[in-house]
Amino acid sequence: MAVGSFVNRLRSAACRRRINDERRRPLHQGREYAREERAVRGRAQAGAGSSRLRKNSDRRIVHRAVVRTVAAAAGRQARIIGCDRRGRRAEREQEDQQDGEAAPHLQPILNLGCPFPAIGLICRGVGYHRSIRQFLSSLEETTLSQVNDFAFRSLSGDTAPQEVRVRRPLRIAIFGFGTVGSSVARILVESKPEGLELTHVFNRGVARKRVDWTPPGVVWSEDADAVLGSDVDAIVELAGGLDPAGSWVRRALDAGKSVVTANKKLIAYHGIELERLAESRGGHLKYGAAVAGGIPVIPGLEQGLAGDRIERLEGILNGTCNFILSQMDEGADFAAVLAEAQARGYAEADPTEDVGGFDARSKLSILMRLALRVDVDPEEIVPRPITQVTAVDFSYAHDLGCTIRQVARAERTDGGVAATVGPMLVDIESPLAWSRGTENMVILSGRYGGDVVFSGHGAGGHPTAVAVVSDLLALAHGSRRVGMPSAPGSVSAEFEVPHYIRFLVDDRPGIVAEITSCLAREMINIRAIVQKPGYPPHALPFVVTVEPCKSSALQRALAAMRTMDCHCAEPLDLQMLE
Ligand SMILES: NC(=O)c1ccc[n+]([C@@H]2O[C@H](COP(=O)([O-])OP(=O)(O)OC[C@H]3O[C@@H](n4cnc5c(N)ncnc54)[C@H](OP(=O)(O)O)[C@@H]3O)[C@@H](O)[C@H]2O)c1
Repeated sequence: MAVGSFVNRLRSAACRRRINDERRRPLHQGREYAREERAVRGRAQAGAGSSRLRKNSDRRIVHRAVVRTVAAAAGRQARIIGCDRRGRRAEREQEDQQDGEAAPHLQPILNLGCPFPAIGLICRGVGYHRSIRQFLSSLEETTLSQVNDFAFRSLSGDTAPQEVRVRRPLRIAIFGFGTVGSSVARILVESKPEGLELTHVFNRGVARKRVDWTPPGVVWSEDADAVLGSDVDAIVELAGGLDPAGSWVRRALDAGKSVVTANKKLIAYHGIELERLAESRGGHLKYGAAVAGGIPVIPGLEQGLAGDRIERLEGILNGTCNFILSQMDEGADFAAVLAEAQARGYAEADPTEDVGGFDARSKLSILMRLALRVDVDPEEIVPRPITQVTAVDFSYAHDLGCTIRQVARAERTDGGVAATVGPMLVDIESPLAWSRGTENMVILSGRYGGDVVFSGHGAGGHPTAVAVVSDLLALAHGSRRVGMPSAPGSVSAEFEVPHYIRFLVDDRPGIVAEITSCLAREMINIRAIVQKPGYPPHALPFVVTVEPCKSSALQRALAAMRTMDCHCAEPLDLQMLE
């Protein structure tokens, strides 16, 4: 593009008026800009062509860009767009909805995709001016130079249409410097993932949390309000629980910041509301670590499997229960393994959330939303504890070619979805039986793609932190997730599967006959009756397995059996996964 043609355009009345307007309204007055402007002027004077033109146009380059967010969902992307000869925007854009005020990550990626020189870039509307001011004030000097270099070359016509991407790191505040929070900080500091910068750590009693390996510039605070009010782009919520974690997350999203969390309870109970809030304010909510810790099940569902229709999911979602059950599989006693799990930090002092199935239930409801596209209230899923499982059950399970795992499962049914969490018999050859210790596993069965298995470390500071940092990278690099619309739906516990029923009775004649008649009344077919020798008659365990039957029919049969006077303990019925 010849310099002369720009001069002509500059001299047009419309352009002059805009130039003057812009001069009267400087967008950026910081030291960085002053330094940058001096540098640009220096270059303009040294370059060929009209120095006056260069001065004017250089100033304009910084002042008059139309910064347009590509889309909120695209993350922190913005670009400078061209305009027509009369200084109007070249395309009809929807900047009003994408205004930088609402777009939290306007700044970091500047995509200079305009084929036409930056000379005509005009910024209209107060919102854009503010966006640009925000944008420019956050740019580092080198970044600003890149912007101007590009525009400068555009002015002299010596540049072909090109794309320049520059990026400011995503400023991150960690809320909760515990097991996962400190691991996240460790990865951010040691690996220095591109585009991420740890700037704040918030924790109560923060002095006792402070470590010496974070950069000196990191602010350690016990004032949540101050950190939320700071210039961080994203908060990483790793305190856990519904409150106050929920209120921090809401406030951050409300302010247009993005949030990454590993808090399954918060996401299970309030995820939909929080996602809507994020969307309305132009931020993002990511929770890839909330299910199965370091295993990328959620990103897998949001991206790689988004094209399938998932019909069924089965998972080992609680590492504590898997550790306990896989140790019991080897002959350990429940109480002793629980104590070991607590000593190793796998289980809380109060293990109810884990062994009672509540933790797995929260995770299952999150997966149901993403996989089966149904919003369920976690409270509608009644979990069953693993505490009723004894060494006798493992012994019988082995004889049946199975082992026992806590499984969370859900599937589409004719009328909606069915979901349950509890101990189940799994075939010794099945993938679910392979997961040992604190490992997690999720099997997703798609109508078109068949089964996909995810497995790995579902918990622990570092594995979980990997998932958190991956979410942060996705934010920083603007990777888009596929929209997964879900709708409210009712959930039942109705499955049609074979069952294992273990009785512990004070032996007397006629017990098996009464049990079989209870099953027959519900049209439930017996598969096998197994009684191992070596147990005392006053506490005699034996097992009945039944062919696939509806859960509701089995529950009616069990209710009838409970009225029998022979039971030493509640009969234990477990689904058998084949
Ligand atoms: N650990 C895992 O393997 C794992 C796996 C997947 C997901 N998650 C999830 O990740 C989150 C964090 O788990 P974690 O194991 O890292 O927990 P943690 O070790 O107990 O750490 C929580 C941190 O948050 C701080 N905190 C809690 N409540 C606070 C409050 N009201 N004000 C200020 N600070 C507060 C705690 O401070 P104090 O030291 O003073 O208590 C602690 O430093 C939870 O949502 C959890 O469900 C954990």
